[in-house]
Formats: sequence, C-alpha cells, structure tokens
Amino acid sequence: MIRVMFVCLGNICRSPMAEGVFQHLVTQANLSDKIMIDSSGTSSYHVGEPPHPGTRRVLQQHGINYQHRSQQVDLAQLQTADYVVAMDRSNLRALKQMARDTPELENKLSLLLDHAPGTERQDVPDPYYEGNFEKVYQLVLAGCEGLLATIRRRHNL
Ligand code: 4NP
Repeated sequence: MIRVMFVCLGNICRSPMAEGVFQHLVTQANLSDKIMIDSSGTSSYHVGEPPHPGTRRVLQQHGINYQHRSQQVDLAQLQTADYVVAMDRSNLRALKQMARDTPELENKLSLLLDHAPGTERQDVPDPYYEGNFEKVYQLVLAGCEGLLATIRRRHNL
C-alpha cells in the first residue's frame, strides 16, 4: 500500500480539497486498493471540524463526494506516510521542523505544485483568506494529476 498525506494549515480548505480530488483520480484509475489517502493540518485550530463550506461546494460542483474531519499532523503520521505533500512553503517548513531529528522523513516531503508541470507557482493560495475556491481547485487538480503520474511511474502502477 502507498500512503499519501496532504498537509495545510487548518485542514479545512486546501488539504481536504487535495485529498478529495486525489481520491477521485485514484478511484478513476482503479488504484483504490493500492493508494491510501489522508489529510491533516499543521495547526490544531479546527480539529474535529468538517471542511470549509467553500471546499465542500467546489468538490460537489466537480462531482466529488467527500467527507472529512480536521486533524492535526503528528510524527507518527509522517512516519506512516510514503508521500507527505504540503500545500505551501510555510507548511513545508513546519513539516521539516517536525522531521528534523528523523532524516529519512525529509525525502518524503514535497510541495503539491512541484508536481504540477508548467506552473511557476509554488504555493497553493489560502482560500480561507482569499475565498477563490474554484481557482484553488484548478491548482490542486493540476498538482494531484502530476503527483499521481509520478507515483504510477515510480511504482509501476
Ligand atoms: P487551510 O486554510 O490551511 O487551507 O485549511 C486555513 C484554515 C484556517 C485558518 C487558516 C487557513 N485559520 O487561520 O484559522
């Protein structure tokens, strides 16, 4: 089993969106029995809450059925995952800090948009403040498509 963990700050906007989109792509590719997906936040601000209404709406508009409760990332989750994918550089820094005494964790860390071909952008903007959930969806989709292509190539799936 390949385990993918998406991480943002609150685990209510961007990383749940990425989890829902990636799950959808994995299901379409008939790989649900090979790839497990989860998401969490570097903060505890919203632990236990469902995704933001904007994330729920945009996923629904794109035909993606998704449910989640916000959780905070911990070291055990990082150890279990094979790919830990941060939504922006600030959250990547927080993950690197958590992994500082465990060098093998460092290799699992990446930015979602590093997997999106042809985008200069590194950070998925935070719709909690900017509100543009459809634009965030398009960026998340590009990153998730690239990530799935990378995983399929690396693992011969
Ligand atoms: P997310 O968005 O990290 O994409 O889930 C945010 C959610 C909550 C807050 C910030 C960003 N907050 O400050 O409460």
